Formats: sequence, C-alpha cells, structure tokens
Amino acid sequence: MTELRKIGVVGCGAMGAGITQIILQAGYETVVVETDDDRLQRGFTTIVSALSKLVEKGVIADADKDAAQRRLRGTTELSALADCDLVIEAIIEDLGAKHQLFLRLDSLCRPEAIFASNTSSLSITQIAGAVSPSRQARFVGLHFFNPAPRMALVEVVRSFLTDAAVVEQAMAFARSIGKTPVQATDKTGFIVNRLLVPYSLDAIRALEEGVGSIADIDQAMRLGAGHPMGPLMLNDLVGLDVLHSVANAMYDAFRERRFAPPPLLTRLVAAGWLGRKTGRGFYDYSDPKHPQPMSLS
Ligand SMILES: NC(=O)c1ccc[n+]([C@@H]2O[C@H](COP(=O)([O-])OP(=O)(O)OC[C@H]3O[C@@H](n4cnc5c(N)ncnc54)[C@H](O)[C@@H]3O)[C@@H](O)[C@H]2O)c1
Repeated sequence: MTELRKIGVVGCGAMGAGITQIILQAGYETVVVETDDDRLQRGFTTIVSALSKLVEKGVIADADKDAAQRRLRGTTELSALADCDLVIEAIIEDLGAKHQLFLRLDSLCRPEAIFASNTSSLSITQIAGAVSPSRQARFVGLHFFNPAPRMALVEVVRSFLTDAAVVEQAMAFARSIGKTPVQATDKTGFIVNRLLVPYSLDAIRALEEGVGSIADIDQAMRLGAGHPMGPLMLNDLVGLDVLHSVANAMYDAFRERRFAPPPLLTRLVAAGWLGRKTGRGFYDYSDPKHPQPMSLS
C-alpha cells in the first residue's frame, strides 16, 4: 500500500477550498488546481481567512497557519498533479466535465495514484467510466459535507470496480484528516442524502399542503424531534438549488415520488431565491441573526 503524501484537489470552490484547508491542517503537501487565476485567488482567500480565524480563536498557533500555507501550492495546470498520490475532484456537478477531467488526469498521473470524486449525486461507477480499467479499481467517492472543515463525516463510496484495499486506504486517509468515515455503496444519494432528501422535500410538501406554517414546521421538528434546526431552515442553508438538483438526480435514478422536487421548490429556484446564500428562500435573511419566514402563498 503506497503511503499518501501528496494530495491534489481539483476545484477550489465552496467544497474544494474547505477540503484543501483540512488536508493542509493535517500536514499533507497539497496542490490545488482551478480553471483560472481569479478563481484560484478566491479559493486561496477563503482558505487563508479560515486559517486566520482559527488562529484568532486560539484553535491553531500562528506558526501552524504559516506551515499550512507553506504546504499549499495553487495552479491552473493539471500537470502539477502528476506526482500526487491521491487526487480529489471537487469541480462542478456535471458528468461531462468530470469525464473530461479524469480522462486527462488518467494520462497525467502515476498508475498507483488514487482518484476520488466528491460528487453528491452522480454515480461513481459512471464517473470512473472515463479512466482505464486499472485506474477504475483505484477510483472511490470521498463525499465531504458542507462546510467541510466543520462537518465530521466523510462517506467513502465504493463501486463494484473499486479495490477493497483502496477503500481501506480512503477510510484511513479520512481518519488522518480528522474525519469519521462511513462506507457506502454506489447508489445515488449514498447514505445521508438517501435519508435526508425525502425528509427535506416532505417538509416542503407539508408547507404546500397547509399542514403548518414555515415557522411552525421548523419549530415542531426542533422541539418535537430534537433536531438542532428545522427542515426548511436547513434547506435554506444547504441551498435550494443544490437540494433541487440532488432531488432530481435521485428521482431520475429511482423514479420514486419521495425524491421528486415539489413544485414550490422548483418555483423558488426559478425565482433565484436559493436560501441563505442569496438572502432569501423559506426565510428572509436581511437580518441574518433573525431570519423571518417569507410569505410564499
Ligand atoms: N456545496 C455542497 O453542499 C456540496 C456538498 C458535498 C459535495 N458537493 C459536490 O462537490 C462538488 C463541488 O461543489 P461546490 O459546491 O464546491 O461547487 P462550486 O461551484 O462552489 O465550486 C466548483 C469549482 O470548480 C471549479 N472548476 C470547474 N471545472 C473545473 C476544472 N475542469 N478544473 C478545475 N476547476 C474546475 C470552478 O471554477 C469552481 O470554483 C460537486 O460535485 C458537488 O456535487 C457539494
């Protein structure tokens, strides 16, 4: 089993930046690749300001932050990943784009390198279709949760093509960066979204059917089920566009009503009310500390 020393991350958006940050903090040399310098710079700013906040809070020392930054290299050239032991893909959720990327990586990277995708809703088997059979055995899902630095879980997803030893190595890697891994097979939604998405969508259906108001549905699940946050506010936090596209992918895969996006969700996405990130969704976040339920009838 090759030791994983140098890690590549492709895509430095919401997930890639968080994933890069925790890998750096765990002591790995890390190369991050973006499509252009502006996006790379934006990703770096996110990583550096997150590390600075940890210093301010006394979680890490100033010297740890400097050392983490020294281990980071950013580039727009995929060839910089040639000597990485593990490459984690966190680019847009588009099968064609992921295929194009992995096809190139397969010819650039060492045969022993492990490839991982952070996809939320695509099939690992299908993404791995772009690479050679020997690499398919070294292809796994490493599904982090948002925000990656704070969420403890990583789903390690194996397809029937993945070597058992590679799954073990991915599990060990997740532990080495301070996460708790669970294993899932390559069924759309894996474990968390398989259970969470129908619940999130049912909360919207309950609202549509007039079972309760936005505030009451959320209050009910907080106080009656002991959830830290109500489902409608959680949907706003996840992003209504993200929920909509994961739900669609799951509906396409299973053709079961419980995964179908309800009309209200589709309308909110069409209106550009995507939740917390756009300032409006099921709640209005003009005052972010005191979100107010929207009137959606
Ligand atoms: N946002 C979430 O809650 C979440 C949670 C878990 C997993 N995911 C998955 O993680 C992946 C990334 O999602 P995100 O929310 O970070 O998206 P994002 O749009 O914030 O970031 C994607 C980044 O990838 C870059 N990119 C696109 N094509 C590239 C390429 N060929 N080479 C290098 N960089 C490229 C883009 O410039 C962008 O900065 C998706 O597969 C998504 O399904 C997202």
